[in-house]
Amino acid sequence: MNGRTPFVAANWKMHKTVAEAEAFAAALLPRVSDAEGVDVAVCPSFLALGAIVDSTRGSRVRVLAQNMHYEASGAFTGEVSPPMLAELGVNGVILGHSERREHFAETDRALELKMPAALAAGLLPVLCVGETEEERERGDTERKLRHQVQEDLSQVDSAQLGDVVIAYEPIWAIGTGLVATAEQAQEAIAFVRALVGDRAPEQAERVRILYGGSVNPDNAAELLALPDVDGALVGGASLEAESFAAIVAAAGRR
Ligand code: 13P
Repeated sequence: MNGRTPFVAANWKMHKTVAEAEAFAAALLPRVSDAEGVDVAVCPSFLALGAIVDSTRGSRVRVLAQNMHYEASGAFTGEVSPPMLAELGVNGVILGHSERREHFAETDRALELKMPAALAAGLLPVLCVGETEEERERGDTERKLRHQVQEDLSQVDSAQLGDVVIAYEPIWAIGTGLVATAEQAQEAIAFVRALVGDRAPEQAERVRILYGGSVNPDNAAELLALPDVDGALVGGASLEAESFAAIVAAAGRR
């Protein structure tokens, strides 16, 4: 036992209207009500956040946004700020997902500011990192992870590093059905933990590091049993309550 509570989060990406999100919550809550010892979260679109905060109130399910700006307010058309999320009762936020880095020009510079801004607003930040297929083939996986982890966490106080969640999501495994092998996932996640340890050894023992990329009910148990893997960030298999609940259950048995 390493003392870290497993964390399993459903990243719905640009899926589910408010009505669909509410139907999912109604189906999920009874299925995870006895998932003792697992932190469970759903990450709906901005528009469904308020409804899902309401419909999960009093349950074990936490609600996370999928992005935010680092400023509290300002002339940033189309953006949402940390206090806006906190006011709604949102518990945290995914930051630096590879789809935001790739399609929306999310930069490490911005993430440097977003990470402490989330913590200051009382939000749990889930920082996503990971290499492309090309970077893995070139032998650059560790270089990429080092760059992202060091830069994106550079403005987080060392004493607070254990309060963030990091998700290792190899880009080649996202939405492809190609899951990292147990060895690849363990090796990369242990490396990320060691990077946190370079700054604060005791925080490396606390920080939760998830695996993401084609996690499903069939492969979850093996991934979640790995010593450094503290949970999963789930895309496609999180869109159905039954398959997401099966992954939560696998985390509870680890
Ligand atoms: P998939 O589970 O669909 O591969 O997506 C993973 C992901 O990007 C979670 O953030």
